[in-house]
Amino acid sequence: MPALAALGGTSVFPEGHAWPTWPRVSPRHEELVLDVLRGGWWFWGSANDEFAEKFAAFVGARYAVPAANGTVTLELACKALGLGPGDEVIVPALTWCASGQAPLSVNAITVFADVLEDTWCLDPAAVEAAITPRTRAILPVHLYGRMAEMDALLAIADRHGLAIVEDCAHQHGSQWRGKGAGSIGTVGSFSMQQSKVLTSGEGGAVTTNDEALYRRIRSYTHVWLIAEDNLEVNNLHQFGSNARLTEIQSALLLAGLETLPDDLLVRERNARHLDQALASVPGIEPLRHQPEVTRQSLYHWTANLRLADFGVSRDVVQRALAAEGVPTILPYEPVYKSRMFGYDPVRTSISCGLPAGTLNYRAQSFPVAEKISYEIGLGLTQDVMLAPAEDIERAAEAFVKVLSAPDELRKIAES
Ligand SMILES: Cc1ncc(COP(=O)(O)O)c(C=O)c1O
Repeated sequence: MPALAALGGTSVFPEGHAWPTWPRVSPRHEELVLDVLRGGWWFWGSANDEFAEKFAAFVGARYAVPAANGTVTLELACKALGLGPGDEVIVPALTWCASGQAPLSVNAITVFADVLEDTWCLDPAAVEAAITPRTRAILPVHLYGRMAEMDALLAIADRHGLAIVEDCAHQHGSQWRGKGAGSIGTVGSFSMQQSKVLTSGEGGAVTTNDEALYRRIRSYTHVWLIAEDNLEVNNLHQFGSNARLTEIQSALLLAGLETLPDDLLVRERNARHLDQALASVPGIEPLRHQPEVTRQSLYHWTANLRLADFGVSRDVVQRALAAEGVPTILPYEPVYKSRMFGYDPVRTSISCGLPAGTLNYRAQSFPVAEKISYEIGLGLTQDVMLAPAEDIERAAEAFVKVLSAPDELRKIAES
């Protein structure tokens, strides 16, 4: 095996090698956006309606409401479910801050629960342990390249009469036993921000099979204008907001939706290849294959590093891989560790109906989430996962090269 590139050896990828870039623009994007520009109607028009219909069909939900982004969609879901002061919502400790903030945005209480080490998603046993008489909902996040354990979570929700808000920001098109992520729980929430596999730069959508919820969510995105089919501007009778997705964004999403099923297969095939190539390589464990996941839309390919015998930390492996030409990424920080959760919500705009100081998120500890985030988690982003099969094969070679050289890794650590 040649020397590691980080120590002056030749890298697996030739200099100047380019990975796929994102977002991708096709002639179809241009065509559909031009149609909107020429049509002269830039919000709540036919592109928006068409996207809602096609996205609902893609997810397998009865309804989809296009919205401004994947933060507001989670907030809309909490609001439409009628969550409020005193209500508790169980959220994974490892996710993007938007999932942790959403219950607080309606003055409900976020209750964090730990995740499973082999999927990085909500641990059903931890959910069960976190349930109190005030629990109203579970907010599982299908994180990066795996889905939350939906069989167990549905059973818990059923037993305790809880709603499920699926955060599908990372899973456009994944399926659990043939059912689309976002159609399994009570409400699904999607982000179409620039890094996501379906994107309009900013954007989002809420999905549901429940007509009453659908009508409420759609109303909230549009100052309650369509409540009870009431289109009279002078007849607004509840607080709504403006969370609309524009026509231009809808056109971009319609173009993206046309190539998403094929892209999804490319990423899934590449992920399977990496999983298999690295299955018995010491020092790395791709996350557990979930047989219930019948289609996996992949935001990041993810693995746990097992470096106890190597005597080096994750950043050394990351540096060595970068020198070989493989750009890896680390997982999120556990949400409750972020500075925003250090503030007493009572002293910000949020009260949650609790006395000041009751909520002290930063004092909490979820060992699995912390281990994944700070020590063992590593990923490849979805754009990289769109690479041709031969580049994925080389990426696997680079992992093997780096993890077969513990002595050299220790030298990098010392340098
Ligand atoms: C898991 C998760 N939920 C929600 C969001 C929020 O989406 P947006 O950036 O569109 O507001 C993100 C964004 O990265 C996310 O990763």
